[in-house]
Amino acid sequence: MLLRGRLVRLRAIESSDFETWRSWINRPDVMEGMDRAVIATAAQHKRYVETAVADDRAVFLAVETLEAERLSGIVWLWDVDHRHRRAEVRIVIGDPEARGRGFGTDALEALATYAFGTLRLRKLYAYIHASNEASRRAFERAGFALEVTLEREAYRNGCETDVHRMRRFADERHD
Ligand SMILES: CC(C)(COP(=O)(O)OP(=O)(O)OC[C@H]1O[C@@H](n2cnc3c(N)ncnc32)[C@H](O)[C@@H]1OP(=O)(O)O)[C@@H](O)C(=O)NCCC(=O)NCCS
Repeated sequence: MLLRGRLVRLRAIESSDFETWRSWINRPDVMEGMDRAVIATAAQHKRYVETAVADDRAVFLAVETLEAERLSGIVWLWDVDHRHRRAEVRIVIGDPEARGRGFGTDALEALATYAFGTLRLRKLYAYIHASNEASRRAFERAGFALEVTLEREAYRNGCETDVHRMRRFADERHD
């Protein structure tokens, strides 16, 4: 599968992506953004990815920038529910040089086009920690709006934090 955005393209995950992906998710800033608590070993990550990618309730895609044609992130649909026609969206732009250049926003746009078009979903949603301004901005720019704030939903480093749930509907106009 290949999906083309304005700045990125999304393609199927390959086993050669696994180690780059793992190096991102073990970085402190990414762990914080994605609410990960433990370092993933190579074996754990391989096991997780092989199982998750094969799961028919998930769609994992590699994000490559059009300019450098380099793996820069992963974006995925999680808990795809064809009966209710909804799915959760998750993303990591792991390459530090690729951050803040609109690639995350564009990957979310391309994924939404696929989810609403090919998969015929009607609602996408994402959970974002209140401290994760970059993620909230990227989702907003990709047409997501705040649905609800889950108060004191998470507990990290001795502090309670709110978690925002953002949503985008297929039939809402987004420019
Ligand atoms: C969240 C993430 C996917 C965004 O990807 P990105 O390619 O950097 O995002 P974009 O460049 O498309 O847009 C980022 C927006 O956030 C803003 N931003 C970037 N860093 C920021 C920061 N530290 N604080 C506030 N805003 C920030 C940018 O200015 C931009 O907004 P603007 O267009 O209004 O200026 C990326 O930062 C990431 O992978 N983070 C770690 C993992 C994570 O948090 N995943 C999401 C879990 S819900």
